[in-house]
Amino acid sequence: MRVGILTGGGDCPGLNAVIRAAVLAGTQRHGMEFVGFLDGWRGVLEGDTVPLDEAAVRPLLTTGGTILGSSRTNPLADGVEEGVARVRERLGALGVDALLVIGGEDTLGVATALHAAGVPVVGAPKTIDDDLSATDATFGFDTAVQTAVDACDRLATTGASHHRVMIVEVMGRHAGWIALHTGMAAGAHVTLLPEEAVDLDAVAGTVRAVLARGGAPLVVVSEGADVHGGPAGEDAPRDAFGHVRLRGAGEALEQELLARVPGVSTRVTVLGHLLRGGTPSAADRILATRFGLSAVEALASGDLGTMASLHGVEVSQVPLSEATGVLRTVPGARRAETAGIRW
Ligand code: F6P
Repeated sequence: MRVGILTGGGDCPGLNAVIRAAVLAGTQRHGMEFVGFLDGWRGVLEGDTVPLDEAAVRPLLTTGGTILGSSRTNPLADGVEEGVARVRERLGALGVDALLVIGGEDTLGVATALHAAGVPVVGAPKTIDDDLSATDATFGFDTAVQTAVDACDRLATTGASHHRVMIVEVMGRHAGWIALHTGMAAGAHVTLLPEEAVDLDAVAGTVRAVLARGGAPLVVVSEGADVHGGPAGEDAPRDAFGHVRLRGAGEALEQELLARVPGVSTRVTVLGHLLRGGTPSAADRILATRFGLSAVEALASGDLGTMASLHGVEVSQVPLSEATGVLRTVPGARRAETAGIRW
């Protein structure tokens, strides 16, 4: 069996570890051959490939990013039927029998449509945001949180020296998992998530109280937190990926605090893509490896149209269709755990 692998959407630490595990296990256990498609679905549409053998993937466990490159190209953008036909034709021309698709909602959405049309495909989920409902966890999240916490620890000491409010903006457009876990692990005084309304007067009150007791307030804010006066409208300017470029939540919050807390000194650090880079943590290497192994076993056993998923401590395959649709956001119960405590 000749298997094509692609990575799509935003990258995250652990993508290369999935590729490594899949190629090594598929080659050694099942005599599969692998080819890599460059830049996600673009590589499929344009037949842009690289060979993937054992020697090519062995060094990849610790390497951040994806050696295959990524893009947000959607082969179904001009119609599902035409897109599926084009992908099928490209795979046939390249002698590729099946696909291993590693991606988030959008990328796996395409894989779902291909499976429905009879293209042999399995998936592995990825996103640093950890917001896919079909799996308890995605690799990349643990690394992203550790990177954010390391940054907060450093910012807290300089903040303390200058009696300053340190505002740290982290990724998380729709779900606040990164902000929630970063805030808890870094001991933030305030943590703002996309899932709940932001009470700017309450934030200002906490900042004043921490300053009054001689502390330096640490505020973690998710990029998707609503400190912008409401979500961006349909006509908001978008970048090449169709993403609205939000005025930074951190900066917006800084303006609000300057207006509400006279004489305060504030500094904003936007961690942004720093959280997507670098070598994966041990936990992410393990989860990515397990996902790669599970996906390749699914290919070998004909368990198609499925993606690797963690439930409790078990990795198993679930229908690809479950990967899309419902995002796993931070539930009220998790937010309530820390409510009202003065850290
Ligand atoms: O993968 C999701 C994510 O990390 C979001 O948290 C963030 O908003 C988005 O990617 C940014 O992606 P890019 O800048 O690569 O389009």
